[in-house]
Amino acid sequence: MANYNSLRTKLTTMLKLVVVLSLSLLAAGVNGELNVGFYQNTCPNAESLIQQAVSDAFANNSGVAPGLLRMHFHDCFVRGCDGSVLLDGNDTEKTSIPNLSLRSVAFDLIDDAKTAVEKECPGIVSCADILAFAARDSANLTGGVTWDVPAGRRDGNMSIASEALTNLPPPSFNATQLVDRFKEKNLTAEEMVLLSGAHTLGRSHCVSFTKRLYQNTSIPDSAAQTDPTLSLAYADLLRNLCPSNSNATDTVTTLMDLITPNTLDNKYYLGVMNNLGLFKSDQALMTQDDLLAFVQEFNANATEWATKFGAAMVQMGRFDVLEGTNGEIRTNCRAVNAANSNSATVKNLLINMYRNYEEW
Ligand SMILES: *[C@@H]1O[C@H](CO)[C@@H](O)[C@H](O)[C@H]1NC(C)=O
Ligand SMILES: *[C@@H]1O[C@H](CO)[C@@H](O)[C@H](O)[C@H]1NC(C)=O
Ligand SMILES: *[C@@H]1O[C@H](CO)[C@@H](O)[C@H](O)[C@H]1NC(C)=O
Ligand SMILES: *[C@@H]1O[C@H](CO)[C@@H](O)[C@H](O)[C@H]1NC(C)=O
Ligand SMILES: *[C@@H]1O[C@H](CO)[C@@H](O)[C@H](O)[C@H]1NC(C)=O
Ligand SMILES: *[C@@H]1O[C@H](CO)[C@@H](O)[C@H](O)[C@H]1NC(C)=O
Ligand SMILES: *[C@@H]1O[C@H](CO)[C@@H](O)[C@H](O)[C@H]1NC(C)=O
Ligand SMILES: *[C@@H]1O[C@H](CO)[C@@H](O)[C@H](O)[C@H]1NC(C)=O
Ligand SMILES: *[C@@H]1O[C@H](CO)[C@@H](O)[C@H](O)[C@H]1NC(C)=O
Ligand SMILES: *[C@@H]1O[C@H](CO)[C@@H](O)[C@H](O)[C@H]1NC(C)=O
Repeated sequence: MANYNSLRTKLTTMLKLVVVLSLSLLAAGVNGELNVGFYQNTCPNAESLIQQAVSDAFANNSGVAPGLLRMHFHDCFVRGCDGSVLLDGNDTEKTSIPNLSLRSVAFDLIDDAKTAVEKECPGIVSCADILAFAARDSANLTGGVTWDVPAGRRDGNMSIASEALTNLPPPSFNATQLVDRFKEKNLTAEEMVLLSGAHTLGRSHCVSFTKRLYQNTSIPDSAAQTDPTLSLAYADLLRNLCPSNSNATDTVTTLMDLITPNTLDNKYYLGVMNNLGLFKSDQALMTQDDLLAFVQEFNANATEWATKFGAAMVQMGRFDVLEGTNGEIRTNCRAVNAANSNSATVKNLLINMYRNYEEW
């Protein structure tokens, strides 16, 4: 009887293994759209494990939330949402100047979340998906804003520093440049205005806006120095914080949304309407009629903004993704897999199955 029970346990284990194995091969073989609940059979706890990791890290350092939202954006704008922003190396995206907006606490969170999902289902959940889930969880923690994340992204194998510079919209962009850059990434002008709302959270380095404070240093008058679309009182405050020769190595940072700096909400638009947008690219939303209409609409209706923001994040998360058998599932989010390591995982699973079989 005892033997029978142990045989039954082994048989069940083996069947589970076969099911998991074939499902993961199936998942890897399916081409097409990303899907909500992509891991529900292959790693049912993936989303909750990631959510737990994000909320643990957030309890320690709330800066992880804006960090993750920014990182997902960066990932999707450079080479599509393929986890390229996460790769370590001498000349990868994270070594490029736009890395000022990337936070080590967010990279660490991705490692922690990856460790948690690998423990439960090795080789199944991509780093690009972990980042997409973690960005959603960050929005939920900071503003109660949430959305379903279609998943099934696979990880890329390249990350090139110069591509960060040529693909990310810099804070100096004007309205035309912003609309054009987002259009290159399959996003509409409305989605651009929605996603700019992410500046409702987080901090910025001085170098991203000092030009607006010191427009012409040969004129001593501070009002004349100030970008006319920036509030004079705000400019005075920022000049106290940021010298004109601020550069990328300075560590001074300032809040991006003065009104509700720690809440993901629509107050960003109220700020922009009152010349409190920190970047030229924020204030640019006021310079074109169609964009201004969106700013006013999102300022007037918090619920509408939150719903549309989630939809815009989903749309952004679809850009140029690797699906099906393209790309890989990285074992370590900071490095591409060694050659043949995917087939090595399958081989190990098979070896374990046969080992169990022999024990009968
Ligand atoms: C919280 O921060 C402390 C000190 O920085 C660190 O040792 C600990 O691992 C962190 N915990 C989590 C859950 O991130
Ligand atoms: C970065 O460059 C150093 C020195 O050239 C080298 O030792 C190191 O292995 C490189 N690291 C990576 C990840 O390529
Ligand atoms: C960020 O970019 C700067 C400038 O290229 C570089 O010096 C720095 O090492 C980078 N930071 C990281 C974490 O790679
Ligand atoms: C969002 O947060 C609420 C409350 O904190 C939680 O109940 C819910 O499960 C979260 N939603 C997602 C999708 O994580
Ligand atoms: C990266 O992946 C592409 C196809 O996805 C492949 O052609 C290329 O050889 C890979 N490069 C490396 C360095 O693995
Ligand atoms: C934005 O800048 C570009 C490049 O400098 C310029 O061609 C364009 O006319 C500018 N658009 C606006 C609205 O100022
Ligand atoms: C700066 O102001 C001075 C004095 O009004 C003027 O002559 C000069 O052209 C201005 N420079 C720029 C770049 O606007
Ligand atoms: C950046 O500014 C700091 C002080 O403001 C200065 O010490 C440092 O030399 C500057 N670095 C560069 C590369 O200009
Ligand atoms: C806000 O937008 C929602 C749709 O997103 C709509 O149902 C609601 O009536 C709007 N509220 C106001 C005050 O306009
Ligand atoms: C852009 O959107 C179109 C239409 O939705 C889609 O067919 C195309 O694959 C998208 N391009 C990328 C690179 O994601």
